[in-house]
Amino acid sequence: MTKGLFITFEGPEGAGKTTVLQMLAENLQANYPIVVTREPGGITIAEKIREVILNPAHTEMDPKTEALLYAASRRQHLVEKVIPALDEGKVVLCDRFVDASLVYQGYARGIGINEVLEVNRFAIENLMPDLTIYFDIRPEIGIERIQKHKGREVNRLDLEKIEFHQKVRDGYQLVSDLFPERIITVNAELPLDSVLSQVEKTVIRQLVEWKQS
Ligand code: TMP
Repeated sequence: MTKGLFITFEGPEGAGKTTVLQMLAENLQANYPIVVTREPGGITIAEKIREVILNPAHTEMDPKTEALLYAASRRQHLVEKVIPALDEGKVVLCDRFVDASLVYQGYARGIGINEVLEVNRFAIENLMPDLTIYFDIRPEIGIERIQKHKGREVNRLDLEKIEFHQKVRDGYQLVSDLFPERIITVNAELPLDSVLSQVEKTVIRQLVEWKQS
């Protein structure tokens, strides 16, 4: 049994999840033991796997190879960073987790949500998030935001066509329906301060329950 709390943030490109996660962490860290991390990445080995997966030159990458690399980086990140933090009673805020694989590799790339879940069971065993915030946004609006945000890394997945990004949104809606008790949807098209306040309310509710348990 883990003593900490594991919260993940999901959504398509340009949904603002990373910005909101950072603001949320700043607001909470005075009162809670917060650890902020991301996937793929968060530790040296997983950041190296991230470079391989997201390198725009690697256009020949097979979808199953991609799924396995995400699962490998997830495993290492869990063992090295997430599980030790949860064991110490920390609140881990993670930018993406297994749902991203179910959506991007399972649904959008067409491997199958169940197939990708199986591969990931080997990597994560039974460790699922306590809460997942899904930032919902229409792909055309997300892409417009990315194009305006000049300093952002442009990765191999950003170069996909709009149809792929639409599939990503459809996939997130399917995966949200599979795990309704865990995944909370926020409307990420609203202004940043109202997205932040929706997210903060949901997370604080969970933190209060966790403290009482
Ligand atoms: P980021 O833009 O949130 O840093 O995520 C990097 C990219 O990796 C993003 O396009 C989504 C993709 N991704 C997957 O396809 N599968 C996964 O399991 C994860 C964690 C990310």
